Amino acid sequence: MSEQEPIESPGRRGFLETATAALIAIPMLGPLLGSIGCMVSGSSREEPDEVPALPLSEIPEDSVQRHTLSYKRRVGAFSETVERVVFLSRKGNEVTCLSAECTHLGCSVRFVAESDKGPARLQCPCHGGAFSLDGQVLSSPPARPLNRYAVRVPSDTSKPVMIELA
Ligand code: FES
Repeated sequence: MSEQEPIESPGRRGFLETATAALIAIPMLGPLLGSIGCMVSGSSREEPDEVPALPLSEIPEDSVQRHTLSYKRRVGAFSETVERVVFLSRKGNEVTCLSAECTHLGCSVRFVAESDKGPARLQCPCHGGAFSLDGQVLSSPPARPLNRYAVRVPSDTSKPVMIELA
């Protein structure tokens, strides 16, 4: 009397081979995915310490000049262009650089010239907030002044002032 060997179907064998390969591969994927995550996460972000804006001669003393700071930022293996809108003004060689981002919920404020409706100001289009040209709150809902960037004025004043990003 002969014993019969169980016959394993190719479908079952294929499944077992695939499952075994997956069990071996999954633990190896963790470190690989972790490395990719590090490459794209903020932990490896690089951007310049400061970026050029305008020379003093293009920055008004009695108003503000809207300007877009544009620079490259590296995030892991990728590079992207960042743009930040600011308002520049000066008193002599002392330059003020205000973020255009409203401190209420982040809309972009706009310059509004003096008129019979009020003084020149930086007006937020979203909820009616307004700021003076030096960034102080004129009307709520914003509770804080506009954020300021530190500015470095080069000794050669024909060169652009440098805006610190930190
Ligand atoms: S976002 Fe500017 S007032 Fe609300």
